Amino acid sequence: LMVDKGNHRHFMAKEIYEQPETISHTLSHYLDMGAERVALRETLPFDFARLSRLTMSACGTAYFAGSIAKYWFEKLARLPVDIDVASEFRYREPPLQADGLSLFISQSGETADTLAALRYCAGQGQHVASLVNVRESTIARESQVVFPTLCGPEIGVASTKALTAQLSALASLALAAGVARGAIGPEAEAELVRALISLPSAVSKALKSEGQIVEIAKSLSKAKDVLYLGRGPMYPVAMEGALKLKEISYIHAEGYAAGELKHGPIALVDESMPVIVVAPSDPLMEKTLSNMQEVAARGGRIILITDEDGAAQAGHGIADIILIPKVSSFVAPILATIPVQLLAYHTAVFMGTDVDQPRNLAKSVTVE
Ligand code: G6P
Repeated sequence: LMVDKGNHRHFMAKEIYEQPETISHTLSHYLDMGAERVALRETLPFDFARLSRLTMSACGTAYFAGSIAKYWFEKLARLPVDIDVASEFRYREPPLQADGLSLFISQSGETADTLAALRYCAGQGQHVASLVNVRESTIARESQVVFPTLCGPEIGVASTKALTAQLSALASLALAAGVARGAIGPEAEAELVRALISLPSAVSKALKSEGQIVEIAKSLSKAKDVLYLGRGPMYPVAMEGALKLKEISYIHAEGYAAGELKHGPIALVDESMPVIVVAPSDPLMEKTLSNMQEVAARGGRIILITDEDGAAQAGHGIADIILIPKVSSFVAPILATIPVQLLAYHTAVFMGTDVDQPRNLAKSVTVE
């Protein structure tokens, strides 16, 4: 495999910086950018309009991609969605409705549990689709339709560009489903497509906060535990942020739904606990801000990821604000993954860990 790190110290850094191009490349497969329409090239063995339910299964970071996409499919396409980690789904053997679509998300296309979940759904007569980065993979071969992510080979064990490519594809698929199901009219479609088209340049801008993130990472590297909070589609972004941090820096981290703070994790909050709040300005932000104030009142060190409007609303008691460009709330979860990747990466660099090959982890888990 002829892939090198270029000018970067690690593959992970190179892959983080490739994202404006890998997102754009993936989007160009799913969209007709000139016409501002979603335009799927794959022949679908099912009709979005007739689907009873979408069932997604995946592992690790791909599971968080599906968890974010659940919000899109429900909101934009009014399609009922289930999502589970494949290792739970496969043994639960859930009953599946007729006319259901099962979608498997996997960078490698070889993850054993995801493949087993696929085989279960195929056996139950579901429509079987996959979203993979490796077209020749087993999961792709056993699917009725394969949706590609076009981000090139991902070498770093901690997934970055594969996640944003999965999200770009899933956002497009949710749009296609919304159009087919009559939930999105032509004007809304054009507006949502424009939001996607503007994403690569917003990602480039978000990457420019690296200098500030390095400073924050220096202080994070001294923490024993870190809490990530988010609401709505920012909740899976928070979980992904925590996963990324623990995978490569070995610092314990948890992602929590902001509204669940008072049902447990607030007991942990003190001056030594950084709390990373992922909350770009949107109608839910006010709720998340009030959770943030509960953290501040207990001396928790808040790092807020938001846009300028969000920063203006945020008030006092915040240690650091990482600004991301203001984008439509549709694409905001994709953009918000960028600072959480950079935070994990630079914290790991301060810790001196093997960033691309973290201990005990494998790029592709082909055994149970
Ligand atoms: C491993 C990798 C993760 C990845 C997960 C699922 O745990 O370390 O980065 O998200 O497997 O892999 P897949 O290839 O199915 O996306």
